[in-house]
Amino acid sequence: MQAPRSCALSTILAATSVLLLAACGGGGGGGSSTPRPPPSTPPAPQLPDASTAPALKTVFAPYFRIGAAVVLEQIDAATHPDDVALLTKHFSSITVANAMKADTIAVAEGQYNFEPADQIVAFAQDNGIEVRAHTLVWHVTSPDWFFAGDRSDPVAYRALVRHRLQTYITDVVTHFKGKVYAWDVVNEVAGATEGQIYRTDSPWYEAYSLSGEGADYIEDAFRAARAADPDVKLFINDFLTENAVKRANLLAIVQDLLDKGVPIDGVGHQIHSQINLSAAGVDAALTAVEELSPSLINEVTELDLSVYTGPSVPSNYGAGGIPNAVAGQQARTYRELFDVLRRHDASLDSVTTWGISDAETWLDYSGTTFERKDYPLLFDVQRQPKWSFWAIVDPAVQLP
Ligand code: XIL
Repeated sequence: MQAPRSCALSTILAATSVLLLAACGGGGGGGSSTPRPPPSTPPAPQLPDASTAPALKTVFAPYFRIGAAVVLEQIDAATHPDDVALLTKHFSSITVANAMKADTIAVAEGQYNFEPADQIVAFAQDNGIEVRAHTLVWHVTSPDWFFAGDRSDPVAYRALVRHRLQTYITDVVTHFKGKVYAWDVVNEVAGATEGQIYRTDSPWYEAYSLSGEGADYIEDAFRAARAADPDVKLFINDFLTENAVKRANLLAIVQDLLDKGVPIDGVGHQIHSQINLSAAGVDAALTAVEELSPSLINEVTELDLSVYTGPSVPSNYGAGGIPNAVAGQQARTYRELFDVLRRHDASLDSVTTWGISDAETWLDYSGTTFERKDYPLLFDVQRQPKWSFWAIVDPAVQLP
């Protein structure tokens, strides 16, 4: 008598798995076979114990510096002990978020307020943390005195503004010489639309345009910075480099500077983005810089991932925190992003989050006409590691 064919053999021979499952009694509801218990739902992932959190700077030491942007209050151990604890445990780099901008330093022509920035630099030095300097030329924070003067003689006026720019940069870069590893020399100078290479709504561009090429202030800024400090790395810094149109404009500027022999060391990618960021765009941005010139450095300078994907989407989670699903989505995006960043470690030498924890983020008061609590960083409002933290330090951690 012929032996019945085994189910294993029929696996190979059966035309469809549906037929096969039925023949093997695996299809459910099939005659006399025992019904299977309903599939049990896997337990929800649990946030790992915060006391086991590794230091970010240790985890990323093989790849790049890991930084946070800091405002003065946050280095005060008396009032902000939890911020100080996070900074000293986790970060190998600090960016001075506001105190090195000209609206703080450039009180008046020839008169400088270095005090708040000096305090942050001293804190960093005391704790063995390196400092990224931000920023010499930004249209948002350039005081009016730079542009005062008689415009009826455009050549003389341009020379005056140029002299002020060069003097300011010389004095500020000299002041911090040897204390900072990078300067954002110019911030957000690229245009946002196709073919519009330069931002034109900048008082620097406008002043220079009165006589000659408006964008020449960029070149002047880099040359003055290099003359003041031959060693510090000099950056052009901008947002939305993950967007192809913006990136093309920015890289056209970098190419032009390189062609003219202007001393530029690298490109800063702000990455102020949202939890639906495509890491592929960041990959393209880092790659494009690498391909432009092997001499260029990449830095991620102002990373945060807003939990809101539009001005009113959703309107406001409020102070209570974000749903677990949103925390999970943010964490997955951070994980994909850091997978990309690690792959670029040869050109990428620092990655900085724009803030320390969700307790203090500029997004709470930016981007909308109303106040909206945001949760864009790696530590929560209690300064505890979020899912996003665990996602980037440990690939084995299951996310919600
Ligand atoms: C922001 C600061 O975080 C705010 O505190 C300040 O009020 C405005 O500037 N791009 C930059 C940063 O280059 O300097 C900005 O910082 C955020 C956007």
